[in-house]
Amino acid sequence: MSTQIIFSFAGHDALATSIAEKLNSAMGEYTLHQFPDGESYARVLSDCTNQEAVIIANMHKPNDKLLPLSFLCDAIRRQGASKITLIAPYLPYMRQDIQFNPGESITSRVFAGLVSATVDKLITIDPHLHRYHSLDEIYTCETVTLSAMTAVGEWITANITNPLIIGPDSESEQWAKTTAENIQCDFLVLEKHRHGDRDVDIDMPDISRFSDHTPVLVDDIISTGRTMIETATHLQEMGLRRPVCIGVHGVFSEDDYQKLCAAYVEQVVTCDTVVHESNGIGMVDTLAQ
Ligand code: R5P
Repeated sequence: MSTQIIFSFAGHDALATSIAEKLNSAMGEYTLHQFPDGESYARVLSDCTNQEAVIIANMHKPNDKLLPLSFLCDAIRRQGASKITLIAPYLPYMRQDIQFNPGESITSRVFAGLVSATVDKLITIDPHLHRYHSLDEIYTCETVTLSAMTAVGEWITANITNPLIIGPDSESEQWAKTTAENIQCDFLVLEKHRHGDRDVDIDMPDISRFSDHTPVLVDDIISTGRTMIETATHLQEMGLRRPVCIGVHGVFSEDDYQKLCAAYVEQVVTCDTVVHESNGIGMVDTLAQ
C-alpha cells in the first residue's frame, strides 16, 4: 500500500507540518540551491519508494518558483515516488483566461500546461474560475478544487454580529452568495469596472437600509486592494459602518496591504493560502480532509 510523504515548498512550512501531523505522514527532506550564475540544484534526501509525494507549495509570485519546483519533482520521482500531488492553496495565473487584447498570451493555459507536465495531481482552493468552469478545461493532470467558504463562514459567524456580505464584483458572486447562504445572512453583489491595475470603479446602489449591519466584503483575491478600497469609500459616503475585508488569497505587493488597512476598513483578513500577516482563517482542516 502506498503511503504519503509531505514536502513543503517555498514557505508553506506551517501548513505542510500541520497537514503531515493530521495525516500522520513523514516530512520529506530536500535541498534546493541556487548557484552564483542563477541556475538551480535540487536533491531529495528522503526515500520516496512507492509513496505518494504531496508538495504543499506557496505559489504566490510563481515565476521564480516553477523551474525549481520542476527540478524538485524530478528528484522526487528519481527517489521512487509512485505519484506526485501538488497542493497549491493559491493557484496563480488564473485571471488571464482570454485574450483581452489582440496579441496577448493566455497565461493561464501556458501555466496549466507546465504544471500538468510536472505533477500527476493538483489540489487547490478557490481558483479564479471565471470564464473557465473547471480546471479540467486547461489542466490535463487530475485536479481537485476545494473551497474556503465553509471556513470563511465559520470565521464570520464567530467574529461578526449582523453581517451583510458584499461581493464587490460579478465574479465574486460565487463566493459571496455561498458564504451568505452558509451562514444565512443578507448579501449583495456590486458591479466593477476596471480601467487599469490600480484604477477601478464600483457601482454602488443605495444600501443605507443596512446601516445597522457590519459590511463584510468577500472576494477571492486581494491584490492591490483597490477593489476593496473603492467599495469601502462608497460605504463611508453612504454612512455605513467600516467593512471587514475578507480575501481568500492575499497576494499583496509593495505597500498595498498597508494602504488598504489605512482606508475606511475595520479589519483585513485572509486565508493562509498565501503566507501573509493578514492570515486569520486557517486551511489545514480543509486541505487535510
Ligand atoms: C478579480 O477579478 C478578482 O476577483 C479580484 O477582484 C481582484 O483580483 C482584486 O484586485 P485588486 O485588489 O487589485 O483590486
